[in-house]
Formats: sequence, structure tokens, C-alpha cells
Amino acid sequence: MTTHSNDQPFPAHSPVHPPEDPAVRSIAVVILAAGKGTRMKSDLHKVLHPIAGRPMLLHLIASAAALHPAKTVVVTGAGREQVEAAVAPLGISTALQAEQLGTGHAVAQARGALAGFEGAGFEGDVLILYGDVPLVTTATMQRMIDRLHADDTPAVVVLGFRPADPGAYGRVIADAAGRMDRIVEYKDASKAERAVTLCNSGLMAVRATDLFALLDRLGNDNAAGEYYLTDIVGLAGAAGRSAAVIETGADEVAGVNSRGELAGVEAAWQAERRARAMADGATLIAPDTVWFAHDTVLGRDVVIEPNVVFGPGARVEDGATIHAFSHVEGASVGKGANVGPFARLRPGADLRADAKVGNFVEVKKAVIGEGAKVSHLTYIGDADIGAGANIGAGTITCNYDGYFKYRTVVGEGAFIGSNSALVAPVNIGAGAIVAAGSVVTQDVEADALALVRPPQIAKPGWAARFREKMIARKAAR
Ligand code: UD1
Ligand code: MG
Repeated sequence: MTTHSNDQPFPAHSPVHPPEDPAVRSIAVVILAAGKGTRMKSDLHKVLHPIAGRPMLLHLIASAAALHPAKTVVVTGAGREQVEAAVAPLGISTALQAEQLGTGHAVAQARGALAGFEGAGFEGDVLILYGDVPLVTTATMQRMIDRLHADDTPAVVVLGFRPADPGAYGRVIADAAGRMDRIVEYKDASKAERAVTLCNSGLMAVRATDLFALLDRLGNDNAAGEYYLTDIVGLAGAAGRSAAVIETGADEVAGVNSRGELAGVEAAWQAERRARAMADGATLIAPDTVWFAHDTVLGRDVVIEPNVVFGPGARVEDGATIHAFSHVEGASVGKGANVGPFARLRPGADLRADAKVGNFVEVKKAVIGEGAKVSHLTYIGDADIGAGANIGAGTITCNYDGYFKYRTVVGEGAFIGSNSALVAPVNIGAGAIVAAGSVVTQDVEADALALVRPPQIAKPGWAARFREKMIARKAAR
């Protein structure tokens, strides 16, 4: 536990929950998301733009959730309804910053949300994150918290980085050991300060008791006329407390302010995910062309050919192959199954072991049983295809009448001839054969043949006679 002199302006930590004991350390996460995000030129709030199919804010919340925070508060302002709707299902609170008066003012808005729980008010650690800096890892967050509790017990821990172009980032004025003097905003910095390459990512860890005492003393006498969160570093120093900076890579703290930066963050996320897929035992022939979703699950010895795109909710089990140019979303691909090239698996597609879905086949809300084959040019929607069934080229399940959807059931080992239309609701029994070109509107018994097409008429010599007659007619003109 830190010892403070009596004139120290910050309240002492609760003796009941000494924050230096990791076992009882409690963490609150405050995520700033009140900014407008004008440069996105979007009706969608900046922090809700997706990365790998999930709003960037939810990536950040998921990474922070791994620290088991006692409370997470998102500070909202512009477009608050959208942000509130996105986080409400997760049971996360929001605090309104009605006017965007600066990052320090934004954090202060979370005070009420943090005061209202844990009896006497929150006395643990506060981790301050930015909703538009979505790729910060749990490990880095933990490193910040750990630094806060190192032997020198700094009042503030800042996450710094060294970007290729320091641009307009706040500069961290620190010594070689990472002891910080202050952070100076670019607008307020001297030429010498602007030459500093260590920049402020904006992320901080501060004990709640220190944080709100420091925030109370913030002013806005600066180039932007804002209450800078960064000023708490200098304020801590003035009160005889130290502040520390730890560094991380520039990619991890890349912020999103524009669509271009959004694409950059997406690319970084994808690169990391592809590397992890390969490290975990999947073969990616051309990794740069494969796009994963945030929750894609891959087994071992999965082969993913070039230009495969995963939407959310995809699962591929051991030994399955996804051939080139396939799109897989909300679908499960069983062990050893084969998909594509040019296949589309839509939500609810459930391919069992060794099933095959070939080129130009679309599957939606349908089970393709073990070893069943749907090899070419087919739509299977709202269906159960039994194990070992063979669905011929061009088969269509007619599942929709413009108002309602209906199911098609094809029994085990049934054979559906090419270019058949199965008009749902309809049941094809196990082992039945549907002749090519059939339009099936009634159930077919197991092991029966269903032949639904006009009988063939044969007229010997007719074509030759027709040609002769037409050639003669043309010559006479
Ligand atoms: C801030 C830091 C700067 C740092 C940079 C990193 C301050 C004073 N400066 O500058 O040192 O290098 O981030 O990107 O903190 N926000 C609110 N309410 C506000 C203002 C901002 O919620 O009133 C939120 C924004 O939505 C955003 C984050 O805080 O998520 C940062 O705000 P921004 O205006 O981008 O700060 P910078 O000026 O870039
Ligand atoms: Mg910014």
C-alpha cells in the first residue's frame, strides 16, 4: 500500500481492499466514445463501424472483459442512442457527456456510474480506453495495471508508442527510465517538444481515488480550450506523485478517424488472425487473400484456398477444405467436408462430416448429411438432406411462395436427378430416385422412382425432312 504524507491531496486507499494485493484488486474500465467522428462521414457512430464483422467498440469491450472488470462504462455524447443500443445487451453502462469539453471532462462523466456501486464508491483501478482505438490487447491492458502496482506506485500509467510519423499526437515528456514529467499536446508544444518521438496513445491506468481527485483540478487554459486528461500527469507530479509510461507497438494503438484508417485497422487485424490460423494448424495457400470474421473457428488440417471470405458465425472442423472463392457465413463445415470452389454457405448451413458442396452451390438453413453430395449449380434452402444423398446439378429447393418458407426433406441415400425443382413442403423418402427435370410437388415414398415430366415423343426422320423443306423454301426466295 502506498504511503502518503498528510498534505497529500488524494484520499488514502481503503484498508479493506488494498489495491496492491492482486487477489482483491478490482478494475473498472472507462471507454471514451463521445466524439463525433466527423471524418468518417457516416450516419453510423464511428465506434460501431465493424472490424472483422463486429463493431470496433465490441472488440475493445471483449478484450477488456478478459480482465474481469467490476464495471465497464462507455462515455457517450454524439450519436449516443446508437452506442447505448449496441452495449445495452452486454449489461454495460453508459455515462453521458452532453458537451465534448475534452478527454479529461469525458472521464469525469463516469464518476457517477462508478460511485454508485461497491458500497462506498469504487476504489479500485480505472483503465481508460478509447472506443476508436480498438485493437489494444488484454495483455497490454494487464501490463498497464501491473505497472500501476509496481513498487514505485505511480499515480498514473500512460501507454506510449512511437509512430512512424508522430504527427499531431500528444508528446510524452519522460526520462529514459519511463518516469514521466508531463504530456504536452501538439498544439501546445514547443519546437523541442514536438521533436520528441514518444507519443501518447491516450490510454491510461489510474487508481479511482487518485483519478477523480486529479480530474477535479483540471483546467482548460490551453490551445484547444479543453479539459485535457493528459494534464493529470503534470498535476500528479506537482502533488509529489510519480507517473510512468510504458510502450507498445504503433499498430496496437492505431486509432480510427477515417474510412482509410478503418481499412488499415481491419488489415492489421486480418494479418494477425491469418498468422494465428496457420500457427494453429490450418493451411492458407494465399493468406493475404483470406478474410476472417471475429469469431471464425478453424480445426486442424483445414485447408483454405485463395480468396475465401468468412462472415460471422463460421466454424470449420478438422480436415475440411474450403476451395477458392467461397463465402461462408453462419455456417458449420464438418470434418473432412469439401466446399467450393465458388460455393456460398449462408446462415444455418450445416455440413456434416465428408459432405460435399461444389461450385455455384448456395446452401441456407439446411443440413447436408454425412457424405451427401451437392456438387453443382444448386440452391438448397430450408432443407434436410440425408446422409449419402446425391443432389444432381441444377436442383432447386423451392422454399418460398412469396409469403412463407417451407422445408424440403430428402432421405438418406436418395438420388435427385439434375435440374429438378423440389417444391416445398415436400418429403423425398430414403433411397428414392427423382428423375432428372422433375418438378416434385408431392411426397415421394422411400425407394420409389418419381418421374414428373412429359413423356418423350420420338419421330424418326422428322429432323431430316424438316431441314430439306426449309432449305428448299429459303432457296426459292
Ligand atoms: C488525444 C490525447 C493525445 C493523444 C491522442 C491519441 C488528450 C488531451 N489528448 O488527443 O495526447 O496523443 O488522443 O489519439 O487527451 N473524447 C470524448 N469526449 C471529449 C473529447 C474526446 O469522449 O470531449 C473521446 C473521443 O471520442 C476519442 C478520444 O476521446 O475516442 C480522443 O479524443 P480526440 O479528440 O481524438 O483526442 P486527440 O485530440 O486526438
Ligand atoms: Mg484523436
